[in-house]
Amino acid sequence: MCELVFDDSEYVTETLIIDGEELKFRAFENIPYVTNPVAAELQRINIFVPEVYYEGGSIGKYSLGNAPIFMPNTVGGYMPGRLVRPGVDWQDKANTIFKALLHGYVVAVAGVRGRGMTNKAGKYIGVAPAVVCDMKAAVRFLRHNADKVPGDTEKIITNGTSAGGALSSIMGATGNHPDYEPYLKAIGAADERDDIFAASCYCPIINIENSDTAYEWEFRHEIDRLTEERIAFSAELAKMFPVYVNSLALKNELGQPLTLDDNGDGPLKEYVKAFIINSANKELKKGADLSGVDWLVWENGRVADIDFDGCVRYRTRRKPVPAFDDLVLRTSLNMLFGTADKEARHFTEFSYKHSGCGAAMAEEKQIKMANPMCYIRDDKAVKAKHYRICHGAIDRDTSLAIPAMFNALLCEAGVDSKLLFPWDMWHADDYDLEELFEWIDSIV
Ligand code: DHB
Repeated sequence: MCELVFDDSEYVTETLIIDGEELKFRAFENIPYVTNPVAAELQRINIFVPEVYYEGGSIGKYSLGNAPIFMPNTVGGYMPGRLVRPGVDWQDKANTIFKALLHGYVVAVAGVRGRGMTNKAGKYIGVAPAVVCDMKAAVRFLRHNADKVPGDTEKIITNGTSAGGALSSIMGATGNHPDYEPYLKAIGAADERDDIFAASCYCPIINIENSDTAYEWEFRHEIDRLTEERIAFSAELAKMFPVYVNSLALKNELGQPLTLDDNGDGPLKEYVKAFIINSANKELKKGADLSGVDWLVWENGRVADIDFDGCVRYRTRRKPVPAFDDLVLRTSLNMLFGTADKEARHFTEFSYKHSGCGAAMAEEKQIKMANPMCYIRDDKAVKAKHYRICHGAIDRDTSLAIPAMFNALLCEAGVDSKLLFPWDMWHADDYDLEELFEWIDSIV
């Protein structure tokens, strides 16, 4: 077989019955998507297609030629993303791939490198930007074979959760950007475009170099179990957040500035609150009883405002200070920003200055390539046309300000971005597939 050529005669056909639903699909599996792999077993792609498309049939408005290509990743904690296939999830329920195929999508799953991976020589091969480059290479492989790959390679929709949600966000923000080119060349990716049509992002852990300050802006009053030193760090980090926010010069959809004052109050905070208020009202519409939630402010039977501090107390702090760039390099993010020879590094000036282990700082460029925020105003990056970002209203893995700022930037760039804070939802994945599929069907 020629390199990077999709051989559509190499497949198996299978039938699975899960939860009483029958799915017959065609599976093209373990196809290398680069010519010079660093992790040959992992840098492969699986493509699944509803078998009915090969019998001349269709599912809803989709058929072999026009079905969107749904591209979920399995990245969590910035660890490597495994190759998966239709089947059951950890709860023995039909997994997302199974449901996506039943719905009529073509599904493509790429294995991608992640932090902590080493090669035989003991070198770290999964540090940033490896994960993004692998996903881009997989997209390029699909485009390279657009004439033979089932579905519409101009309708690629990525999906992921947490670190995987970040990966999906970055894919949507950095299409074809030259920053990634040398890395893509090195692994032997096809010489093709890697922009995508849409990105679905569940609780994306993005903008990590600004997440410590955002976290303390939100949780600075949640300090019960902190030492005096960490309380002082929290206050210092919280003060830095408005400086960052104001440097972005974000605007809302009416063109009004989304700033914060020295206290951390101001229009950006109101912007974040508006998504929580929307979430509460959406929940009320579904028939929920929210009368016991003491931080909601009511007007004519609807939630008109919230007490933000009360909301933060309800959400509760989950992470220490600093939350992301740990002073002794214990987080997954420290490892994301390692090098071939160093397992982990700092990625903020604050933690570098206060390092408890004299660790090095990651290069600016490496940090940038892991942050979709850095590419939205860059014309060299082709943006996805549509985004759907879900961050659970009680998910405290990052501050609510993080997805809110990203949403504001996307809207400014003319991207159709939808930000949701689903009520009483934790740090979780794919919990509303019906709504996700409805959204996909409405944009393609
Ligand atoms: C993930 C969660 C985190 O809280 C974090 O800081 C990084 C990654 C995750 O689940 O992928």
